[in-house]
Amino acid sequence: MLRKLLPIPLRSLHQVSGHAANQHQQPRLPGGRARRLGRVSLALLLVALIPLTVWATTREEAETAIAEAKQTREEAIAAGVTDSPTNEMIEQAESVLPSRQYTRALQYAVWARRQDAMAMELLAQQEERKAVGDAAKAAVGNYQEPLDVLEGLIARTQSEYLSQSDQNLMMMPDSPALWTAADGEDLFKEPRGPNNVSLEECDFGKGPGVLEGAYVELPRYFEDTGKVMDLETRLVHCMITLQGFAPDDPAITKRHGSNTDHMKLQTYIASLSSGFAWNPPMDHPLEKALRDAGEVMFYRRAGKADFACSTCHAESGKRIRASVLPNKNIPEEWTKAISWPAFRVGHDHVRSSQHRLRGCYWQMRQASPVAGSDASIAMLSYWTDAARGQPAILSDMKR
Ligand code: HEC
Repeated sequence: MLRKLLPIPLRSLHQVSGHAANQHQQPRLPGGRARRLGRVSLALLLVALIPLTVWATTREEAETAIAEAKQTREEAIAAGVTDSPTNEMIEQAESVLPSRQYTRALQYAVWARRQDAMAMELLAQQEERKAVGDAAKAAVGNYQEPLDVLEGLIARTQSEYLSQSDQNLMMMPDSPALWTAADGEDLFKEPRGPNNVSLEECDFGKGPGVLEGAYVELPRYFEDTGKVMDLETRLVHCMITLQGFAPDDPAITKRHGSNTDHMKLQTYIASLSSGFAWNPPMDHPLEKALRDAGEVMFYRRAGKADFACSTCHAESGKRIRASVLPNKNIPEEWTKAISWPAFRVGHDHVRSSQHRLRGCYWQMRQASPVAGSDASIAMLSYWTDAARGQPAILSDMKR
């Protein structure tokens, strides 16, 4: 009875509510097809509209992006970013506007802006590094005994790595490295080699014969060779060019052991930077390039063990057997790690930075960098930069 009286409202009710279970029972009404058609075309219209609004770039958007890129360009110039490809990128963005390639124009403008933003960030980082180094230099001042430097760092940080050997702390005032350095001083001042001259005319970056604080500003770029050099390569350079030693003379080639000229000289020269803050210059493009290359090397995993330096040296408190490993990201720890030449108790010899570096690669079962190669200096540049601002411990004493 009810059905007979109310057939249509019931059906339309089902259709409006879209109750699926009932729909197949519904007899089709003449208006149903038109409504369905309407719905389909509405859906089609939406499908067509979505890409238009989401993907298509309007001229206005492209122009806004170009204006923003120009604004960032101005800021970058003001911040001191020179030598940037962004001008051409912005020109390119503008050049495709007349042919209505708005998406492409937008892309060029976005890239240009990103490029300038990144350059500004890098510049700020560099300036910050320099400021940290300069401030630390002012604060640290001049020479300090290695043990005093280390105890100062321990008091400041309570680092497990720094304080792991009471025995070493006790032995430091009588370190055999002191003898090595004293021998080095004599050798440095003695007229030697075929030219019979001393090394007092050798320039380690702060002027001929200036050794105080010279080592903590190495590696650095040298005009006379056009290269970034570390202590060892600079010493080799002076022994050959000033003193006239042949490159295959044992004075040049023998670099390992406390009894070699090299270790005596290096230990002496470095010891005059004890307590000075690490502050290798980053003004010359090659100084930056080598530091950056060293960073890549530090994080690159390779070899059969798939190790990178960062596998062992990027967290605090890591141990291998009894040794607590230094963390490169904590400059107060890292300064001790890179304080070489140092006396290695286990070897009963003073060892150099280059020697330590090869030991690290051996430890990773990777090919050893050639002594004095650009790769070795890249790593030394990077590891010294990571300790910037912290006082050097020269000569340190190691396990
Ligand atoms: C498998 C872990 C491991 C890897 C990988 C490794 N090291 Fe080491 N590193 C050590 C250990 C262990 C020591 C302490 C050595 C010792 O006491 O004889 C050490 C010592 C050092 C030191 C001297 C620390 C000190 O106390 O004087 C430096 C600097 C260093 N490594 C740098 C590097 C660099 C750079 C690399 C990559 C080229 C590297 N290490 C890769 C484990 C590692």
